[in-house]
Amino acid sequence: MGQCPECGEWNTLEEHIEPARNVAANPVTAARSPGLAASAGEVSALAEVSTAPEPRLSTSVDELDRVLGGGLVPGSVVLIGGDPGIGKSTLLLQTLAALSRHYPSLYATGEESLQQVALRARRLGVADAPLQLMAETSVETILATAQQLRPEALVIDSIQTVHSAALSSAPGSVSQVRDSAAQLVRWAKETGTALILVGHVTKEGAIAGPRVLEHMVDTVLYFESDQGSRYRLLRAVKNRFGAANELGLFAMTEDGLRQVRNPSAIFLSRHECAVSGSAIVVSREGSRPLLLEVQALVADSSLAQPRRVAVGIEQSRLSLLLAVLQRHGGVVTAGEDVFINVVGGVRIHETAGDLPVLAAVLSSMRNRPLPMNSVLFGELGLAGEVRPVPGGEERLAEAAKHGFTLAVVPEKNAPRKGIKGMEIHPVRRLEQAFEVLFS
Ligand code: TYD
Ligand code: MG
Repeated sequence: MGQCPECGEWNTLEEHIEPARNVAANPVTAARSPGLAASAGEVSALAEVSTAPEPRLSTSVDELDRVLGGGLVPGSVVLIGGDPGIGKSTLLLQTLAALSRHYPSLYATGEESLQQVALRARRLGVADAPLQLMAETSVETILATAQQLRPEALVIDSIQTVHSAALSSAPGSVSQVRDSAAQLVRWAKETGTALILVGHVTKEGAIAGPRVLEHMVDTVLYFESDQGSRYRLLRAVKNRFGAANELGLFAMTEDGLRQVRNPSAIFLSRHECAVSGSAIVVSREGSRPLLLEVQALVADSSLAQPRRVAVGIEQSRLSLLLAVLQRHGGVVTAGEDVFINVVGGVRIHETAGDLPVLAAVLSSMRNRPLPMNSVLFGELGLAGEVRPVPGGEERLAEAAKHGFTLAVVPEKNAPRKGIKGMEIHPVRRLEQAFEVLFS
């Protein structure tokens, strides 16, 4: 056809070949039926592929840049999930306002009116940013507008509110979310635009809509916080352009989100004097050491099945550790309720907390505080051995920086040269650690 039956334009039709699905899925049958074979694709030798670092748009928000792995990659798609009210829109408005001073940027909102966004921008002190706004929920309209404005960064707030006219299902339904996202992703890749999608998280913790959304994008970030806390953690759970599990920290204030640049000790509550049942662990979030307090309370139980409550560590890990404590520490907790809490609503995602948890448990049981200004870390094996964890020296350096003077660490993590101002006790077994801490 020379003329498009839709718009009436001449010579605008282009030929597209639909990939034949069963051919791609099964190369064997494809080879047997030459009539279906496609023409050969391009192949490159691994060594000859250019690996120049991809250019990045710095967002001017360092904490976000670090979670992204150094800034936004043009043509990449980032999904930010989080509970309602956590501050996703605030973060993105602040970020995009900063970005818009260097790159043309477009913020499409389907959740709020332009007035609401403008009011918030005023509160955040970014009302003068050259940022383009649109309140729109049709993905086709958003894309047509973006095609005209050619932004280098585009935010869709949120993916659950946009819908495509191509489908008859309601906005927010699985097929709508998937189809709208697919259109946006394709456009971002074609034009080299950095695209950020906001996604709501359901109670179950998954980003509402299809899980497939997480597969379609390059980077998935979760924005989370403890209830009532003003601190917000931005965590990369998937990142094709950087390390996963990198963490950014923000504090919600009267006028928007503030970056927390030196977060290693914000969750630490220093006690005036040593208290029992408390141990300081040098944990790690992404590549950063984080000092956390683990508290334990062990109390006589009146229940046939004593309680085991773990907040901030895994319940099953606690059971495992108590079994190790009984077998290799000779400490029986069978008739006791055991409560564990990591202060500040933080979760310890690694095994370095094993040794501190048991030290806190024993400290509470015996009502004996650990030595003042002591830190611990180390994984425990089922045989009672203390195993090394990654980044031992960095952890110790961080603890020393915050004035800790005594450390009990896995033998393999002990630095050869020592750390200034810190007494380091390398241990190989649980019993050894207890000897240092409680003798
Ligand atoms: P918002 O960014 O709208 O959350 P989301 O987009 O994730 O749903 O954040 C709203 C909350 O943040 C709201 O409860 C008020 C609070 N807030 C502040 O405390 N200070 C501020 O400057 C702003 C803009 C919001
Ligand atoms: Mg919002």
